[in-house]
Amino acid sequence: MSVFVFAAKTEDVKEGEILPLILQETRIALTRINGEVRAFGDICTHDDGPLSEGYIEDRCVVCPRHGAKFDLETGKPTFPAVTPIPIYPVTIKGNEIWVGLPETVS
Ligand code: FES
Repeated sequence: MSVFVFAAKTEDVKEGEILPLILQETRIALTRINGEVRAFGDICTHDDGPLSEGYIEDRCVVCPRHGAKFDLETGKPTFPAVTPIPIYPVTIKGNEIWVGLPETVS
């Protein structure tokens, strides 16, 4: 189950740019690809590089540290990373972007 939380205004997320955020103590990043907003984990699974400091290329985010590319549909990486990053569901309400985070058990 996901809990959707407000993340940003739609006008704050530009095509091909990356917006880093912390939502409920989770580092995520938003981008826009072909007009569609994507939300993904902002920590590279290779060695914790900040993906929001990388760039978007071919529907992927490229890590600024060692160049692993993560598919923003599936989270799957290329070398040297081997573990996918989380991809979060996104819903748009008017001009607001809401991101679905895993429900935490308390
Ligand atoms: S920290 Fe991202 S590729 Fe190494």
